[in-house]
Amino acid sequence: MKYDFETIVPRYHLGSNKWMEMKKVNPDIGPDIIPFSVADMEFLNAPEIIDDLKNFLDHTVLGYSGTTEEFRAAVCSWMKRKRNWNADPSWIVNTSGIVTAFFNAVKAYTEPGDGVLLLTPVYYPMYKAISLNKRKLVESPLIYNGRQYDIDFEDFAKKAADPSTKLFIMSSPHNPCSRIWRKEELEKLGKICLENNVIVISDEIHFDLIMPGYEHTVFASISDEFARNSVICTAPSKTFNLAGMQISNIFIPDADLRERYIRELSTSTLSVQCNILGYRACQTAYERAENWLDEAIAVIARNRDIVADFIGKEMPQIKLIDLEATYLLWMDFNAFELDYKELERLNKVEGSLFFDEGYIFGEAGRGFERWNLACPTKYVIEGLERLKKTYKKYL
Ligand SMILES: Cc1ncc(COP(=O)(O)O)c(C=O)c1O
Repeated sequence: MKYDFETIVPRYHLGSNKWMEMKKVNPDIGPDIIPFSVADMEFLNAPEIIDDLKNFLDHTVLGYSGTTEEFRAAVCSWMKRKRNWNADPSWIVNTSGIVTAFFNAVKAYTEPGDGVLLLTPVYYPMYKAISLNKRKLVESPLIYNGRQYDIDFEDFAKKAADPSTKLFIMSSPHNPCSRIWRKEELEKLGKICLENNVIVISDEIHFDLIMPGYEHTVFASISDEFARNSVICTAPSKTFNLAGMQISNIFIPDADLRERYIRELSTSTLSVQCNILGYRACQTAYERAENWLDEAIAVIARNRDIVADFIGKEMPQIKLIDLEATYLLWMDFNAFELDYKELERLNKVEGSLFFDEGYIFGEAGRGFERWNLACPTKYVIEGLERLKKTYKKYL
């Protein structure tokens, strides 16, 4: 490995909630414990990005700044090179994050009382974007087969056909079950949405974190019709561990949808401009940090294989959902028949295992845990040993 994926920076004093959460549970937590929760990486940033930012700060003025032509070209060139998608620079609207983007889309494209479709269980702020804006949650539960999740197309079509359903927010690849929606599945979903005038918000924040052997399809790349009926949410934040930079690139190919989106942003006094350092970090990442990303994915895939091997041999009661994308391993603990709150207590208090609790992703997530594997391998191995010790009496 050319890059350092072993050094940990404890972030208790850097405002990281997930690190502080551990201290709240156990004030005496040792230096050998790191959090396995919230989706940012416990990896140092790519040196290409850090060195460039240092150099940039030596030669810039931190005034109001928007995007440059070079920035937009770098973003579109990344989409073409990595995902074979011909995106036009004029489609990009920037927001400080993707949660902001789908909250804004709910307000821009629906009215209070309208239905918004979700494939559940799913990333929890999507529920909030619906309930806090007084829209109606329309759930199409995914079908769980013990190893992976599938879409119930019949149910989805029925729910989309309800005239009050106006919007579908999709997580693609899907968080938390890490499923990559195949091109044929996206085609079916997109067709149903077009037939029923349902706009698609495709949250593709994890679209660069694709495990070896898998392929991700950008929803809007499938056809012009799909592109004109969708908003594609992308960012360098998960890919390059830049969440604190608050930069996302929202692609809205249709001029009318784009105009409505921007109008809604401005009525919320939100800006289409982001942070000057965020732009710079994003551009540098897309232009120069691809090798770092390749190595990061290799470390995540190695961590996944180590967990799968250990669990298969030592704790077969735990079912692991195939990790196709993201660095978030979805694990089914239901065979232990524990109440989901007891599961949380057992892991955090007895095991010092700070996963994300499955129940936060919806009721179907009860009994599941989500393990963030973007961390040095030695912490994964230590985590597995603690897991085995914690569940000794149940094995
Ligand atoms: C599916 C999904 N969307 C959005 C986000 C967060 O996006 P942002 O930090 O840009 O608001 C996350 C973070 O975990 C995520 O998993």
